[in-house]
Amino acid sequence: MQIAIDGPAGSGKTSVAQALAKELGFIHLDTGAMFRALSVILSEEGIREEDRISERLAQTDLQMIPEGVSIDGRSLIEELRTEEADREVSYYSQLKVVRDWLLDKQRTLSAEHDVIMDGRDIGTVVLPHADLKVFLVASKEVRALRRAIQSGRLDDYADILADIERRDKVDSERRLAPLKPADDAVIIDTSALNFDEVLELIRNLVEEKR
Ligand code: DC
Repeated sequence: MQIAIDGPAGSGKTSVAQALAKELGFIHLDTGAMFRALSVILSEEGIREEDRISERLAQTDLQMIPEGVSIDGRSLIEELRTEEADREVSYYSQLKVVRDWLLDKQRTLSAEHDVIMDGRDIGTVVLPHADLKVFLVASKEVRALRRAIQSGRLDDYADILADIERRDKVDSERRLAPLKPADDAVIIDTSALNFDEVLELIRNLVEEKR
């Protein structure tokens, strides 16, 4: 079974996907973490042009590890969540060479297992035939507040909100695989729901499909 969970930054898709995968015994693939990991490595190495990225990716090994991603044997966990990573990922994730390389990985990883994959384009591009597609939305203020609480940075609320606004714009306006619900996605507004309520709603949708 394939489950796609998409939505904007801070919509809670990764936490919900992780919890549901654990309950169901499915593999969870956080595609945002994949984009972040490549962005960290490429920006550290100062590689920005598509040709050079393509050469680098031809020699890159990416593995999912608990809580993060391993690139060429180096574990990346905290490195994925820095403000710099937030900025850099917007640049790298709009490049065709990066998206194509990851698309291939994402499809391979999901071919042999029951999977819950979360991201921006899972229902529209990566798994267009997923058994269930969910698109989570919430107001930008709620998403920023959740992020601020989660990371213990309440004083930074205004900066976090500004970053969410910036990423919403970049993610939904980019030419390749922009953020948008698939025609057959179930849209859930989580603004007034807590984590358990969202989990319960999606769990019920999964049961209906099984
Ligand atoms: O889910 P996230 O906030 O960790 O994702 C980080 C960035 O990666 C997001 O701003 C855009 C990009 N991304 C993407 O383009 N496509 C995906 N399927 C997942 C993430």
